[in-house]
Order: sequence, then structure tokens, then C-alpha cells
Amino acid sequence: MSKQTRPVSNEATGNSRDGFTSSFGVLAATLGSAVGLGNIWKFPYVTGANGGAGFLVVYLLATLLVGLPVMIAEISLGRRAKADAITTLRTLAPSGQKWWLVGLSGVIAAFLITSFYSEVAAWVFAYVFKAIRGDILSSDPAVTSAAFGALISDPWQSLLWQWGVLLLMGGILAFGVAKGIEAVTKKLMPLLFILLIVIGIRSLMLPGAAAGLAFLFTPDWSKLSASVVLVAMGLAFFKLSIGMGTMITYGSYFRDEQNIPATTFRVMTADLFVSMLAGIAIFPAVFSFGFQPAAGPSLLFITIPAVFASMPFGHLLMVLFFVLSAVAATGAMLSLLEVPVSVMVGRFAISRPVATAITVLLLALVGASCALSNNTLADTKLFGMTFFDLFDYLSSNILLPLGGICICLFVGWIWGKEQLSATLSNHGVLSNGKIVSMVYLLLKFITPVLIALVMLKGLGWL
Ligand code: TRP
Repeated sequence: MSKQTRPVSNEATGNSRDGFTSSFGVLAATLGSAVGLGNIWKFPYVTGANGGAGFLVVYLLATLLVGLPVMIAEISLGRRAKADAITTLRTLAPSGQKWWLVGLSGVIAAFLITSFYSEVAAWVFAYVFKAIRGDILSSDPAVTSAAFGALISDPWQSLLWQWGVLLLMGGILAFGVAKGIEAVTKKLMPLLFILLIVIGIRSLMLPGAAAGLAFLFTPDWSKLSASVVLVAMGLAFFKLSIGMGTMITYGSYFRDEQNIPATTFRVMTADLFVSMLAGIAIFPAVFSFGFQPAAGPSLLFITIPAVFASMPFGHLLMVLFFVLSAVAATGAMLSLLEVPVSVMVGRFAISRPVATAITVLLLALVGASCALSNNTLADTKLFGMTFFDLFDYLSSNILLPLGGICICLFVGWIWGKEQLSATLSNHGVLSNGKIVSMVYLLLKFITPVLIALVMLKGLGWL
């Protein structure tokens, strides 16, 4: 197969369509979507706090029973229809059934997630510069905490960094799928692994590093409970970028000869590997200097600068760490923005650069509510939450699981096994009948029930 940009023909219309051009390109872009801030500030801490190796086992089960089937289903639908998330469901559903609403909910979720995700990414990009200039080079958490406070409480800094990040993403997306998303993630993913390994080795060489490894990996089965199982499932969902049409959209760019189950499995294992490496890069260092493990913004923007400031070569490593985080956030954000962009191109026949500009502009407006959530709008609350928290809550707890359940039900009960099998076997080229049967059974009976449990738990109804 040539590595040149190759038009992907659409079986239905004969139109040529932009798409990924090589097997490595598919892998880099899809992994780029899965790997994100979730690997760095969520996964390692959640693992450590919920019983280490025991949690990993549960997470693996959740990934195999919930994450992988939904991801495979989404990619299959996208590649079959070769269309954006809304058109895909519209084309594949029997006429008169409104399954395209699932695609619409995905577009809404993309806006909500990008609104707060781009603000966190904004802080990360700002920290790359602050780290280079040495502004956050203090081993005193009180100092790094004040520096973070100063950034997020300044409305203009919050807004301008966010808009800068959105513009950068728009700039990449305007180049298209092959020349934009694929070209960039092919460079970024190897860089991500190199940076993780360098920082991981440095962290492991510190005195007292073993305590960090113990925090991460010592199995503590007593910590496992029903709610931990549900936490693991929620994490699997967010990690693999499923439930909102991202994987439908990327699936539509998959090559016809791509082995979908094998690719999905590789993305999932590589994503898990990145999460573990991130944990190995972070916690041995945190423990070595006597800091408390934490999650979320305080780990990333307060503890980590203080940890790096404590160690030899810390200044350089701190810069590398925030570059790494920016790289991780970039691939994830490209995939989030691509959902509305592809819908505009596909449904309204708007040119790609214009669709990208409209998306960035809309996000600059909607996302501003999140950029201002820690300052000007800190006291403006809906349902007791700032916009930032509300958008996170609505997407993670309602829209993503709902989207996931609908995808399972659609493939299991409407699209059917024959279609799924045709797509997963590349129309009979691959003999993976057993895998297809397993995926189908999960999608039809098991996965939707498991997701419904996560959702009800997340809403506090269980
Ligand atoms: N998977 C990314 C992370 O771990 C986040 C992400 C990107 C995402 N696209 C998504 C989450 C779509 C849900 C849906 O940070």
C-alpha cells in the first residue's frame, strides 16, 4: 500500500473522501485520541488510590467488557458509512428511525467536553512557557499553588491561552485528515513515548522511588467495592474516547483493509501502557520528595512543579513534562473538534477550512464560559456547579454513557450481526468469526446493561 495520500472512495456515492493513509497513521491518530490528560492526571492517581494492581485487574475487565466492544462498534459504523457521526447513523438506520439523534448528542458532547478540556489544555500550554522561564521553579507547594491560582484567577490569561490552543487545533484541522490529523499525530505519538520513558527513568532513579511504585502497584483487594468497579468503567469510557461519535468519525477515515478488532486492541493496550508509564514518571518522584499523591489540577499544576523543582536537572525535566502533557492533550483535542467539523462538511457541504473556522469560533464563545469559571463567572452557578464543572458532569455522567448505550443497542438490535461481521471481517477477508460473535453478544446483552449501571451510579440513583 502506498504511503501517499490516497482518496478513499465512498461505496455509496463514489465521492472521494479524505482519510488516513497508512496503518501506522490509523494507529497514531486513534491512539492520539485515546491518550490525553486522562492518562496523566486521572489514571495513575485513581489506580493508586483504589487498590493498585487490584484496580488494574478491574479496569482491564471493564475495558474488555465495555470499552472495547463500544469502540469496535463505533469504528465499524463509521467505516461502513464513510460519513460523519450524524450521517452515519442516518444512513445505516432503517428509514423513519431517529438514530441520528445519537450523532447529534455526540456533537453536543463534543462542544461541552472541548469547552472545559481546552481550558485545562490552556493551563498546560501556559505551563510549558512558565516552566521554560522558570516561573514555577519552586519546591514549596505554597509557591506553586499561588502561581497556579494567579493563572486561573486571571480572566484574560485564561481566555487568551484557551483561544490560542483552539486556534492551534483549528490550524492543524484545516489541513485535513491525512495532512493535518494524521501527519501531526504520527510525529507526536513517538515523541510522547520518548518523553515518558526519559522522565520515567529519571523518576525511578530517585532515592525512595520504591514507595511510589508500591502506591501504584501493590494490590490491596480490600479496597475493591462496587463503587470502585463503577469508577473503573467510567474511566474506561473516557479513556477510549467513546460514547460521543469520536470513534465513528475516526472509523470513517479507516482504510478498508484495516483490521478493526486488532487495531482497537492495540490502541487499548498502548493507551494502558501510556497510563502506567505516566504513573511511573509521576509517583516515584512524588514519594521520593515526600509529597502527598493527589489527582486533577492540584497534582498537575501544584505538586508536579514542586517535585521537579526538588530534583537535579528538574528545570529541564519540568519543561519536558509539560511538553509531554501538551502533546497528549493535542491528539485528544483534535479528535474532539473533528466531530463537529466533519458534520459541517458532511451535512452542510461547507468547505473544511470554513467548517473548522466556524467550530473554533463557536468553541471560543462556548468555551469562554469555562475559561471564566475560575474568575469572573466563579459565582455564576447552574445546579450548584460552575460551567466548567457542569459541562464535565453533563458529558461524563449523562451524554457519554447514553451515547454508549445507544450505540450498543443500535448495533446489537438494529444493524445486526451480519453487517457487523461483514465489516469486522473486511467482507470475509479476515477469519475472525469467534471475535465477531463475542463482540456481538457483549453489545447486544451485556455492555448496555453495564453502562446503564455506571450511569445510574454516576447520577446517584443507585
Ligand atoms: N481520551 C481522552 C483522554 O483520556 C479524552 C477524550 C478525547 C475523550 N476524545 C474524547 C473523552 C471523546 C470522551 C469522548 O484524555
